[in-house]
Amino acid sequence: MSDQLWSAYDEMGEIYRQHAAGSAYNAHSDRPAVLAALGPLAGLHVLDAACGPGLYTRELLSRGAQVTAFDASAAMVELATAEADGRAQIDRAVLGEPLPYSDDAFDRIVCALAIHYAADRHAAFAEFYRVLRPGGAAVISTQHPVTDWLRKGGSYFETKLETDYWRTAGGEQPVQFWREPLSAFCAAATSAGFLIEQVIEPQPAPSMRDRFPDDYEKLTTEPGFLILRLVRPGGRSRSRRACR
Ligand SMILES: C[S@@+](CC[C@H](N)C(=O)[O-])C[C@H]1O[C@@H](n2cnc3c(N)ncnc32)[C@H](O)[C@@H]1O
Repeated sequence: MSDQLWSAYDEMGEIYRQHAAGSAYNAHSDRPAVLAALGPLAGLHVLDAACGPGLYTRELLSRGAQVTAFDASAAMVELATAEADGRAQIDRAVLGEPLPYSDDAFDRIVCALAIHYAADRHAAFAEFYRVLRPGGAAVISTQHPVTDWLRKGGSYFETKLETDYWRTAGGEQPVQFWREPLSAFCAAATSAGFLIEQVIEPQPAPSMRDRFPDDYEKLTTEPGFLILRLVRPGGRSRSRRACR
C-alpha cells in the first residue's frame, strides 16, 4: 500500500464524489454540522483544506465566501476544479507540508474528514495557524477517536496507522488513516497555538431520518465524527475593526 494515503482518493475519483455528494455521513452529518460551526461567511476568505471533489467549495461559494482550496490527490484537484468552474483557486498541496500561501492569508479554514490522513498532524495544524489571520477560526472534522477504538480494538491510547476497506461501486478500496486518542488530537492543535473554542459531536441532520433510518438510529446513539472549532488568538473582530 502507498505511504501517500490520498492515493485511495486517486483510485476512487468520481466514485468518491458521487458517494460524498449524497451519503448519510457526508451530506446529512458532517457537512451540515461543519457548515453550521463555520458560521456566516459572506465576504470572508476561506481555505478549504483537503477539499476532495469540491463539495464544500461549492457550499462556501454559495455562502458568499472567497474560496481557495487544495488537495493532495490529483484526481480530487481535477474534480474540485470542475466543480468550482473558475470561481475558486484550487491547488495541489499536502497536509503536514508547507502550504503555498502567505502568513495570515485566510479568515476561516475548513478541513473536513481529512486530518486523520496527515502523517504529521502537528505540522498540519502549525501550517493552518500560520496561514490563518489572528482572530480567525478553523473548523476541523475527523473520525471520532472513540468510534475508531470501538471499531478497531486494541489500546485506545495508541497512535497507529489503521486500514478500512470501503465497498465502492468500483470494488473494495483499502483506505488507510491515522488513529489517535482525543488528547493527542487536541494537543496537536493546541501545541500549534490554537485555542479550542468548541468541541462538537454532531447529531445527524433531521434530513437523515427518512432517507437513512438505520444510520440515523446509529448516529443518534453513538458518536460518528468529532469537530473542533479552533481560534487563532489575537486580532480584532471584523465588526470592531469596521467601527474604527
Ligand atoms: C474524506 S475526503 C474529504 C474531502 C472533503 N473535505 C469533503 O469533506 O468533501 C478526504 C480528502 O483528503 C485528501 N487527502 C488525504 N491525505 C491528504 C494529505 N496528506 N494532504 C492533503 N489532502 C489529503 C484526499 O485526497 C481526499 O480528497
